[in-house]
Amino acid sequence: MLGGKRVLDGVDLHVPATGRVGIVGRSGAGKSTLLSLVAGLDEPDAGEISIGGETLPAGRLARCALMPQRDCLLPWRSALDNAALALENAGLPRGEARRRAAPLFARLGLAGSEQLRPAKLSGGMRQRIAFLRTLLADKPVLLLDEPFGALDAITRAELQEWLADALAAEPRTVLLVTHDVEEALLLCERVLVLAAGRVVAELDVDVARNAPRRGVVTSPAFLELRERALEAIG
Ligand SMILES: Nc1ncnc2c1ncn2[C@@H]1O[C@H](COP(=O)(O)OP(=O)(O)O)[C@@H](O)[C@H]1O
Ligand SMILES: [Mg+2]
Repeated sequence: MLGGKRVLDGVDLHVPATGRVGIVGRSGAGKSTLLSLVAGLDEPDAGEISIGGETLPAGRLARCALMPQRDCLLPWRSALDNAALALENAGLPRGEARRRAAPLFARLGLAGSEQLRPAKLSGGMRQRIAFLRTLLADKPVLLLDEPFGALDAITRAELQEWLADALAAEPRTVLLVTHDVEEALLLCERVLVLAAGRVVAELDVDVARNAPRRGVVTSPAFLELRERALEAIG
């Protein structure tokens, strides 16, 4: 319950370690609330949430890296120091944290923006920095809330590919919230459709993903899953 309103109801979700689950649904369906609950930032009125056996909110928070829907960059820190923040929080000296974060700037198309403050960056750049910060936190569970929402289609596709590669190299448990059904189906093994706080569809995504993107998203199996998800979203 939030402000006297029932936001989620009867959501039962089990994600295996290194499993990737996408959560799609209309605005207001309860997607961000679900991530806050998993991260231990909110507590459910009923039911239990456990991450690897840890049920206490502080213990769950320690296992999760949450990329919130708003980028929450610190305005007084440079782009590089914002990205490196998670490493500093983990106890690395600032210089070492910067050295680890810096090479990733070029990989995400951010080269040259290292010393700029967030106010000088576009929405898409801010989002990529927030995304980097989340990945660098190096937690077993990634909670991504619309991570690519502010990006143009081409950058978005590049980042999706980059994330898929990064997760293949270093698997983690992922909950990916997105309004983009195609993105969820491309990146996740299972996709839940939330509507008005309830899971109204659960899709297993068993499509071959080793083909080029265009081939994957136009395959009959992919199109059928997309249709089913869109129908459930309503
Ligand atoms: N702090 C809050 N107090 C009251 N209602 C809230 C609060 N946060 C979210 N809600 C309501 O909960 C519902 C789900 O919100 P949210 O989880 O942000 O949805 P989504 O991320 O799917 O767009 C919405 O109807 C929203 O208005
Ligand atoms: Mg949301």
